[in-house]
Amino acid sequence: MATHDDETVRAQYEAYPYPARDPADEAKRLVTGSPSHLAEINHYLFAGARDFGPGGPPFRALIAGGGTGDGAIMLAQHLADAGGDAEVVHLDISRASADIARARAKARKLTNLRFEQGSLLDLETLGLGSFDYIDCCGVLHHLDDPETGLKSLAASLNDQGGMGLMVYADLGRTGVYHIQDALRILTAGDAPSAQLESARTLLADLPETNWLKRNPWVADHLHGDDAGLFDLLLHSRDRAYRVRDIFALTTAADLSVTAFIEPARYDPETYLRDDALIDRARKLDWPDACALAELLAGSIKRHVFYVAKGDAENRVAAPDSPNAIPVLRDGDGQNLAQGLAATRRLNADLEGLSVSYALDKRAPAILSRVDGKRNLADIHAALTMDVTWEDFKAAFDDLYAKLNGINVMLLRTPSA
Ligand SMILES: C[S@@+](CC[C@H](N)C(=O)[O-])C[C@H]1O[C@@H](n2cnc3c(N)ncnc32)[C@H](O)[C@@H]1O
Repeated sequence: MATHDDETVRAQYEAYPYPARDPADEAKRLVTGSPSHLAEINHYLFAGARDFGPGGPPFRALIAGGGTGDGAIMLAQHLADAGGDAEVVHLDISRASADIARARAKARKLTNLRFEQGSLLDLETLGLGSFDYIDCCGVLHHLDDPETGLKSLAASLNDQGGMGLMVYADLGRTGVYHIQDALRILTAGDAPSAQLESARTLLADLPETNWLKRNPWVADHLHGDDAGLFDLLLHSRDRAYRVRDIFALTTAADLSVTAFIEPARYDPETYLRDDALIDRARKLDWPDACALAELLAGSIKRHVFYVAKGDAENRVAAPDSPNAIPVLRDGDGQNLAQGLAATRRLNADLEGLSVSYALDKRAPAILSRVDGKRNLADIHAALTMDVTWEDFKAAFDDLYAKLNGINVMLLRTPSA
């Protein structure tokens, strides 16, 4: 049964559909992100082996709490481009949000996306059928009981399917909850527009010592649109998770985490320098290693992760066969290779965290032959330098570990 607080959340998203989007912008760009990039879904849930093209098995996806459509539009566009038999269902309690998503779909002439109004808590009675993939991005942490929400989603997921989830992370959002509490004290009972005005006034006056003001991962976003500011500072219900909370939440719903995005941010070795401490970290179980990495980073403000039903074993693609096809998530191998050729260093900024990796001397030549079609055997054969398969594979594995860690390279592993 919907509570008074559920109604407050719904009213917020009717008044301030999130994120603010203009359907006219679809002519200029596709908003991409994680979760639900099709290459990630394939890599982290279907071991790279799912065929989304013509002749592949039918694919049904649910975007639960789809909002103004970022995830639904990206996935529906990727699936339309792939050309297979696919349907994406956008579900949201907010009609105003769905109207924007619908207009975006129309602007793109997408015919594989349909819209349903309702709560993800009512999936059992909505009769939408079952799904191969469910996206629930930025929604569970606004529910009264996220565990019940996740279980409701899991009940609509096919056994071989998986989900892409995002929940807030507390360390990177340091200061957000202080100001949410302060605004509750200062603006209780005010109309949303008055609350927004007070929030802007308060932000302008915060002292140097305030944690939100001192938090560079969030401070940059304090001057955006009304929908973004309301969502950040005036939400009536919003909680944040640590890695360990995520494992508890997913285990309770009989789901296993297959990956966090970006993987390097959840690897203690991204942060540790001392050999003895690295040795200690290497002995940790994966959940403990991820939890440690989050504590060391301090900057993670949202956890994006993929989960599978039951055991996560064999769900993630690995470069363990000459048939594996490396895929660049965005962009193309030749361009990336050109950028790296001079320094042979891979530099990346992961939301404020700078990483820099030295690359093998063969890395640019390998990368320039990654086109999403050639498999590892083809890439090896296409190299002009004389290099054994073993040496090639060692160089590729090194390159792959670094590029996959920053979510630039994924794999497809079509069956022979
Ligand atoms: C922060 S927005 C996220 C939108 C979108 N997933 C994204 O990442 O861009 C949260 C969305 O969840 C929707 N929502 C909240 N509770 C819901 C529920 N119980 N069932 C379905 N949608 C819900 C809201 O209306 C809102 O559109």
